[in-house]
Amino acid sequence: MKIQCKHYNTIWLKKGDSKTVQVIDQRKLPFQFEIFNIKTVADAFFVIKEMVVRGAPLIGVTAAYGMYLALLDFKSGNFESYIKENANYLKSSRPTAVNLSFAVDDMLDFILQKKSNSNLIEKTLEKANDLKEREIQFSEKIGEFGLEIIEKIYQKKKGTVNILTHCNAGWLACIDWGTATAPIYKAHLKGIPVHVWVDETRPRNQGARLTAFELGEEGVPHTVIPDNTGGHLMQHGMVDLVIVGSDRTTITGDVANKIGTYLKALAAKDNNVPFYAALPSTTIDWEMEDGIKEIPIELRDPKEVSEIEGWNGSEIKSVRLVPENSKALNYGFDVTPARLLTGLITERGVCEANKKSILKLFPQ
Ligand code: MRU
Repeated sequence: MKIQCKHYNTIWLKKGDSKTVQVIDQRKLPFQFEIFNIKTVADAFFVIKEMVVRGAPLIGVTAAYGMYLALLDFKSGNFESYIKENANYLKSSRPTAVNLSFAVDDMLDFILQKKSNSNLIEKTLEKANDLKEREIQFSEKIGEFGLEIIEKIYQKKKGTVNILTHCNAGWLACIDWGTATAPIYKAHLKGIPVHVWVDETRPRNQGARLTAFELGEEGVPHTVIPDNTGGHLMQHGMVDLVIVGSDRTTITGDVANKIGTYLKALAAKDNNVPFYAALPSTTIDWEMEDGIKEIPIELRDPKEVSEIEGWNGSEIKSVRLVPENSKALNYGFDVTPARLLTGLITERGVCEANKKSILKLFPQ
């Protein structure tokens, strides 16, 4: 069952076919490695909505290629309303990750500005490729700045640095390196002993399935834990640092991330464990001030809670977990207020989770 997928980016153009975008089908990992072909804007919508691809930066870049595919599909009629309709369609695929609307609006502005250019299609593909390359550079920079935090703890502790993470904010959620995992990979590559506590991250188990897979592929020591275990480990000094990702961070430093992140932040605060969110600036919502009031939180199919998926030795199988007549509720994200964060790790450096510090790094 061991599958190999080292050194893949998570999204790329099919060799010799500039009309097909390819991605790793993350619904099948870590049990099967399948490539999913995206040929139309409807395919791009589907892979985001059904989580063939997931993770804020990758959702954004996939939507950017979706706009390119929409352009390829234009036949006749009012071009401007056609491309705006497709932009709104793509933006409606998932509500919380702000990278989605940023990337779509960026592509839309670009396409409308250049709509009379004869090489609009080539230029639009280039633009989508640039957004992809930019996310790789942002992730690597986040890795470098986050490495300094791990190094400081290592110098003080002179032993394995135990890092807890929630969900998957790895290269599978981005294009390469990841956000929360980038400092971990940098430390590991530098020979600093690290060990990762991987929250399973119910109900879709992105931690147990994707983060554990990634870390295993890179040879990083890790242990999968139930989501409710982190607080106990912190009380017993077994966690030196928490690093999570983000789907949308307000200009004031409130962080929306996978459901359960807020509870980890509360435990970290109560046990004086440093708690960082790692995120590119494409995940900062410059318009929002109050995360709990303003950030749209995705409500997904309750079936994701009442059933659980796994490998039965020959195929991926779903089994029912709860009594037939019991109701389930499935919020996908929660908001960690800025006051619970030690800081934000961005592509321009580490800052405190407040407006003054964020704007110092990103002067508008
Ligand atoms: O529902 P998902 O799997 O898209 O949620 C992903 C997360 O919450 C990640 O932590 C976040 O998108 C950051 S990815 C670098």
